[in-house]
Amino acid sequence: MNPTKKRIMSGMRSTGKLHLGHYFGVLTNWVKLQNEYEAFYFIADWHALTTKYNDTKNLREDVQNVALDWLACGIDPDKSTIYLQSLVPETAELHIYLSMITPQNWVERDPTLKDMTKILRTQGATDNSITYGLLGYPVLMTADIITFNVDYVPVGIDQVAHIEISRDIIRRFNNIYKVEYFNEPKPLLTDIPLLKGIDGNKMGKSFNNDIKISDDEETTQKKIMKTITDRERIRRDDPGHPENCEVTYQYWKIFGTEEEVRQIEADCRGAKLGCTDCKKCLAKKVNEYFAPIREKRHKYAEHPETVREILLEGSKKARIEAKKVLDGAKEVIGMYF
Ligand code: TRP
Ligand code: SF4
Repeated sequence: MNPTKKRIMSGMRSTGKLHLGHYFGVLTNWVKLQNEYEAFYFIADWHALTTKYNDTKNLREDVQNVALDWLACGIDPDKSTIYLQSLVPETAELHIYLSMITPQNWVERDPTLKDMTKILRTQGATDNSITYGLLGYPVLMTADIITFNVDYVPVGIDQVAHIEISRDIIRRFNNIYKVEYFNEPKPLLTDIPLLKGIDGNKMGKSFNNDIKISDDEETTQKKIMKTITDRERIRRDDPGHPENCEVTYQYWKIFGTEEEVRQIEADCRGAKLGCTDCKKCLAKKVNEYFAPIREKRHKYAEHPETVREILLEGSKKARIEAKKVLDGAKEVIGMYF
């Protein structure tokens, strides 16, 4: 461990295969940051249980898929500590201490909880399916963050509200025990704007509008062909408006070179390029971009024991740091041992 480097930590719930929203919104940032920071990245399998406690058949597979996507995208076990939340029980212990000091109304007011509850209810949830664990989501998340007493938490924009609650809880801990024991970490965001799904809405697994990192070329192509374009361009010889081309052109800006984007824009405006051809070209670019990543993923997938080993080793390393922080916290609180 390098004491001169600042610390970061972040995680994702193990919800299965990741999509391009995860990739551009979070993962590329993590890959870059692991060179500058002492990084801890973890798969939040306990957090997955907050909503899926009664549907655990895919739990193992989901963890495996997240790990595969991370490794394929360049999260490097030699640079970062990659661990599994449930293999670091120190976090659960910290969660207990935090749960004692977190006011009930703070967790009840959590806007993200309200959203999750709404989604659960549309899926037929009753009062009994909103559990104590789900209510404690932000407290557990705070426990994750303080486990390594980090300076920053690199997340997607959707997690910022959570980090705010975490900062409040951490501040309260420090105030109650009259110490500056835990850092109040700040979120670190990527500068890439939110990637839309192929239908123009927020990209999400449950909206059926995502492109997975692990999709094969044919699937990717099919999905790209469905992307929303300039809705007012009806016929091939109508001039197009790239600025109103909600998804296809936005993807071009990510996957094309400056030169290519300029050309697409000109040909679109001049009605020299039809949307079908435009999308075919784009699909090729996307597939080219992800080809090496997908190949790397296949290689890891052929060796599940390597992936297991990486998680076990990372978790062992994480526990050593976690234990130090936990011991300090217990001392601050005034526990007997
Ligand atoms: N809530 C995050 C998600 O939905 C996962 C998460 C859990 C997390 N604990 C965290 C993220 C701590 C950053 C820091 O993906
Ligand atoms: Fe969008 Fe391309 Fe069609 Fe222009 S040609 S409207 S950029 S899909």
